[in-house]
Amino acid sequence: MDAATTDIPALERDLLARIDQAGDEQALEMLRVEALGKQGLVSGMMRMLGAMSPDERQRMGPLLNGLKDRVGEAITVKKAALAEAALEAQLRASAVDVSLPGPRAYPGAIHPISWVMEEIAAIFADMGFVLEEGPDIETDFNNFTALNFPPKHPARDMHDTFFLAPDVSGERKVLRTHTSPVQVRTMLKQEPPIRMICQGRTFRKDSDATHTPMFHQTEGLVIDKTSTMADLKGVLMGFVKAYFEVDDVVVRFRPHHFPFTEPSAEMDVRCDRSGGVLKIGQGQDWLEILGCGMVHPNVIANCGLDPNEWQGYAFGMGVDRLAGLKYGMPDLRDYFSGDVRWLKHYGFSPFLLPGLAQGL
Ligand code: DAH
Repeated sequence: MDAATTDIPALERDLLARIDQAGDEQALEMLRVEALGKQGLVSGMMRMLGAMSPDERQRMGPLLNGLKDRVGEAITVKKAALAEAALEAQLRASAVDVSLPGPRAYPGAIHPISWVMEEIAAIFADMGFVLEEGPDIETDFNNFTALNFPPKHPARDMHDTFFLAPDVSGERKVLRTHTSPVQVRTMLKQEPPIRMICQGRTFRKDSDATHTPMFHQTEGLVIDKTSTMADLKGVLMGFVKAYFEVDDVVVRFRPHHFPFTEPSAEMDVRCDRSGGVLKIGQGQDWLEILGCGMVHPNVIANCGLDPNEWQGYAFGMGVDRLAGLKYGMPDLRDYFSGDVRWLKHYGFSPFLLPGLAQGL
């Protein structure tokens, strides 16, 4: 192109218009090469300056430099605009609509122990029992002494107790070894008549397929003026029928010893283990499921009540064992290993809750 005869303003208008219309960075780069590249239009014209007369060079030099600067500037501005537009398009394309439903993730499940405690609570609530609570860390008095365990009595050792370090006053608290201290708490804070259950964690130094150092119990206590062993039997039979969902359960009460009840018994239910499946209710075998008895007069007195006026019964059962029997979970240690595959298999829907009306 001949610089001297070229209409430079027209060329500039043409280049600027094409730069403005460039659709993407690649088209813009081609334009840059065409105009400003080594073999480009402007560069070609600038090379001719050397051959011009001094007058002409003085006229054309600034014109060509101005053209080169403005075209270069226009390309830089356009390039930035195209880059920004490209980024925006990319962001728009990858935008996430947080209001849309997410991928189907595992929603979690109710642990069988929580579920079974709800079942047990529903059954006893239906029989007029109130739910009480107590702490995991207990005083020696509530866990043992008030429950008629004499000091230094070997029964304290039977419980394989976890003792806490002595506090400033020298008192050694314990991780409760059973839920029975909640009987004590309830009698101490409330006037009879009492009809309560309590559920929760309990602790003993023990670990194998049928024992874990942390386990769960349900405790029951009735204190009034008339309740007898026959009432205890009726309540527990009602419980077993409702819990195992069988109408005719055969049970037996086997004499036993607990410091806090007199007389004391363990309750066994008839079961059938033939064919490798455990069936509750009938059969040739017995299965021990809980301890119970008439509350010992010493316990009633230790809790500030007159044993000549008040009497009643109590019972305690292992929730983990009852859950394993009903839902076929053989190894207690799996309950607390936190394995999500186990929970997926044995867990319950978070959208349901057991109740007697719709069945457990
Ligand atoms: N506390 C007993 C235990 O953990 C269970 C028990 C037995 C509780 C008899 C009671 C009862 O309330 O009357 O082995």
